[in-house]
Amino acid sequence: MTQHQRLLIIDFGSQVTQLIARRLRELNVYCEIHPYQNVTEAFLNEFDPQAIIFSGGPDSVTRPGSPRPPTAAFEAGVPILGICYGQQVMMQELGGLVESGHGTAEFGRAFVTPTEERLPLLDGWFANPDHREQVWMSHGDHVSKIAPGFQVFGTSPGAPFAITADPDRRFYAVQFHPEVHHTPNGAKLYENFVRAAGFTGDWTMSSYREEAIRKIREQVGDKKVICGLSGGVDSSVAAVLIHEAIGDNLTCVFVDHGLLRQNEAEEVVTMFRDHYNIPLIHADESELFLTALEGVTDPEIKRKTIGKLFIDVFQKYANEIDGAEFLAQGTLYPDVIESVSFSGGPSVTIKSHHNVGGLPEKMGLKLVEPLRELFKDEVRALGRELGLPEKFIRRHPFPGPGLAIRSPGEVTREKLDILRKADAVYIDQIRKHGLYDEIWQAFVAILPVKTVGVMGDGRTYDYACALRAVTSVDGMTADYYPFSHDFLGETATRIINEVKGINRVTYDITSKPPGTIEWE
Ligand code: XMP
Repeated sequence: MTQHQRLLIIDFGSQVTQLIARRLRELNVYCEIHPYQNVTEAFLNEFDPQAIIFSGGPDSVTRPGSPRPPTAAFEAGVPILGICYGQQVMMQELGGLVESGHGTAEFGRAFVTPTEERLPLLDGWFANPDHREQVWMSHGDHVSKIAPGFQVFGTSPGAPFAITADPDRRFYAVQFHPEVHHTPNGAKLYENFVRAAGFTGDWTMSSYREEAIRKIREQVGDKKVICGLSGGVDSSVAAVLIHEAIGDNLTCVFVDHGLLRQNEAEEVVTMFRDHYNIPLIHADESELFLTALEGVTDPEIKRKTIGKLFIDVFQKYANEIDGAEFLAQGTLYPDVIESVSFSGGPSVTIKSHHNVGGLPEKMGLKLVEPLRELFKDEVRALGRELGLPEKFIRRHPFPGPGLAIRSPGEVTREKLDILRKADAVYIDQIRKHGLYDEIWQAFVAILPVKTVGVMGDGRTYDYACALRAVTSVDGMTADYYPFSHDFLGETATRIINEVKGINRVTYDITSKPPGTIEWE
């Protein structure tokens, strides 16, 4: 249990509930998202929030049986902010009226103007010359009568009760979504809300670090922990944190499957062994993996082959560590949030991402997951706090199956060598042009096709490759990065001149969806 001031977000199933948590964490406020079904009176008492937020949601409060917060939420004596469905449910529960049907829907950009009344929640709002704020609306129903005790503080053409509040009870309710970027001044509204609720901003990385270390020590005692290192930010930060907590009772296992980028294995090993002095097993199993992948062309079979071998190899090395009782994983908060899903039915598997799932039970290990409460950028902040090199922290994400899924068709040692070199040139170009941090992920894919070229006076017949670079917030959707033609031309020339085996370079301009980021 954390000792921070805590804010509870009750999730009614909005697509953007996670963004509320993001905005609050940016204000150094600790919050957790919980689905409305789990928030009972007993849960509320246990959680003891200092403020509550009701998220939006896709249902209609006019439908019998639609989601409700527990009555105890209104009796807890803490400030509440209702957003969209959260506003409507608050009004309905407190004696107002919500209507659906013709003319009540409003989607997209809208402008809110203030009423005569002033409200501290709106400090810093309406300060522009036209005294209006752009907001993002997405609602089918609307409030047609506000609950007793409430006043209106802002209106929009489609939502006469766009901003309402009962200042005495510190209940606030807005029809729009202040958490999205299309409500440019939304962060200010959250800031005012948490200030009104008395939050001091005590959620900082240095306090998190101390607390996490204390918790790891409590959980693990003098037992041993093993940690699978991938070289990515999450497992690296988890390892350094755990090492700080329990020293050499931590052993890391770095499985090199032969599908890593240029110099990757050396960099990881140097950092952990030499820089941090963390016990590390460098398991060079590239022959095993590459042999198993011979003749495999199907992307899912590649993933499954790699995933299974990874577990076997990890287990083999872990068995050498006497008395290990815990397995550390870099699980993040977005993986933990049990958000409400209204879509029903299992979603289609596009790609089966591989992890070390299944290992803990199989090996009788307990899990240590010190990053479970953090978002990705918070993990990076913690990494900085722990002194990890900046270059390491800012690294683009790299998939578990590595270069195997950047080599459509069969993965051969020859193609991997070419791919590694081309990728290194491309990343070097991106760094030289100062673009690395603007890009979510950039890599080269080597295509299973040879093309004809001419170099000097001779004919070439070599592989074609595709450059990929995307911007994204979370990898779920992505857009291609708009490099200049100069950059692309210069990079293509460098790759063809410097990398033997490639004579044609293309740039992939597919967004996600309909494409995916990786080629397989
Ligand atoms: P896609 O290609 O699905 O990628 O748009 C989204 C993000 O996930 C990464 N990715 C993987 N990560 N195992 C992983 O650990 C995988 O099998 C895998 N496939 C894709 C990808 O690099 C991107 O960041």
